[in-house]
Amino acid sequence: MKAKILIVDDDSAAVEATEDVLTVGGHQVFSANNGVDALRLAEELQPDLIFLDVKMPEMDGFEVCRRLRENPKTSRVPIIMLTGQTSVEEKVKGLEVGADDYLTKPFQRIELEARVKMLLRRTASHSVEKAEPAFSGKTIAVYSLRGGTGVSTVATNLAAGLAQLWGCPTVLADLVPAGGQGGLMLNLLPRYTWADIADKPLSDIDGDLVGTLLTQHTSGAFLLASPRFAKIMNHLTVQQISLVLSLLSRRYHYVVLDLPHDCREATVAALKASQEVLLLLTPDLASVAALKTTLDMFEEEEVPQDHIRVVLNQVFTRNALEPKVMPGALKREVNAVIPYTPEAVDALNLGMPLVLGAHASAAGEVIEELAFQLSAEEHRKAPPAEPSKAWQRAHRRAEQRGPKGLRRLFTQVIPER
Ligand SMILES: Nc1ncnc2c1ncn2[C@@H]1O[C@H](COP(=O)(O)OP(=O)(O)O)[C@@H](O)[C@H]1O
Ligand SMILES: [Mg+2]
Repeated sequence: MKAKILIVDDDSAAVEATEDVLTVGGHQVFSANNGVDALRLAEELQPDLIFLDVKMPEMDGFEVCRRLRENPKTSRVPIIMLTGQTSVEEKVKGLEVGADDYLTKPFQRIELEARVKMLLRRTASHSVEKAEPAFSGKTIAVYSLRGGTGVSTVATNLAAGLAQLWGCPTVLADLVPAGGQGGLMLNLLPRYTWADIADKPLSDIDGDLVGTLLTQHTSGAFLLASPRFAKIMNHLTVQQISLVLSLLSRRYHYVVLDLPHDCREATVAALKASQEVLLLLTPDLASVAALKTTLDMFEEEEVPQDHIRVVLNQVFTRNALEPKVMPGALKREVNAVIPYTPEAVDALNLGMPLVLGAHASAAGEVIEELAFQLSAEEHRKAPPAEPSKAWQRAHRRAEQRGPKGLRRLFTQVIPER
């Protein structure tokens, strides 16, 4: 099992050593160097396991452990205390305040690995009882290993579409280093971008700070823009990016990711943190091949299979492969088809997403419908108190299509989960 692990230690060399071992084991590792940050991060990240150093200035490990146990949101997280060589008292006290296990410093690599494995196995069997996090929005990743498949177009329209449908907090997080496409597509000039957290330690990054980086669009959606200079995005660590995405999903109902066309660690981490992964494909063989490579990569990286939806975007029509040949070529069904739409270029040039400026266009209608179908169940099942125009359109489409007939829009309705 790959887990989210928080290391709490005031000694940064010790943190790094532990982090190295755990990262090699494939775990997602976060760290805090004092008790206050540890408590906050534990609540926000909902880690699967915490390593907690006993000796820390100000708030020691016992106190941190006691407070973690007191808080209903963190009361069940497994905790391993890191104690000094000789101190039996420390070990006893650790167990008294609610630690699950202890590890004597300095520890051997295999010892650490064995403890982690054992505790994670133990909690996996109890995971049904795990404390529910306070709020968890839906993260929707849009991705393609090849550029030019319409990832930014779809991500931008989904975010604007979701915001219009439900009028609830929605974010478009633009993770593409190549210079702020998200801003262009929404005709926004963001004052702040991801660059503004590049020099911040994890302990300074919280929900409020992330909130100040967002720029609101007229659709209601917020943009977390990528920096104008590509290089800056590469300075961000995987931990910084993962923490920001995690914080966003605790406050926003929908977080849509415009992901870069690469398989860097941060991109893979973002894909794994998403509940929906839309994999885009254009109607040509190179794109089919790239999608197959992507599916292999997802299997290796353990991106959950049931999160993946394959979407064929007909970016061009000339000599295009027919949608019906795709399932055979891909050995996988295509979940939705976005038709070729000449208005897409104007939408881009004007910075006006199709779902706003041209919702009746072929792609506008399909992406609005995609947004509806990817919405949280509690949204889809009950009409909103004040139905938006977008919702009324989605509702009308649902009535027209009846129980079966979505054929005009999709090769197939996105299956319910
Ligand atoms: N369904 C579509 N019909 C026509 N043009 C499209 C469609 N989807 C995207 N495009 C166009 O394709 C180009 C690439 O789209 P973009 O979203 O920038 O792709 P990516 O982010 O994958 O590189 C843009 O010019 C966009 O307007
Ligand atoms: Mg793009």
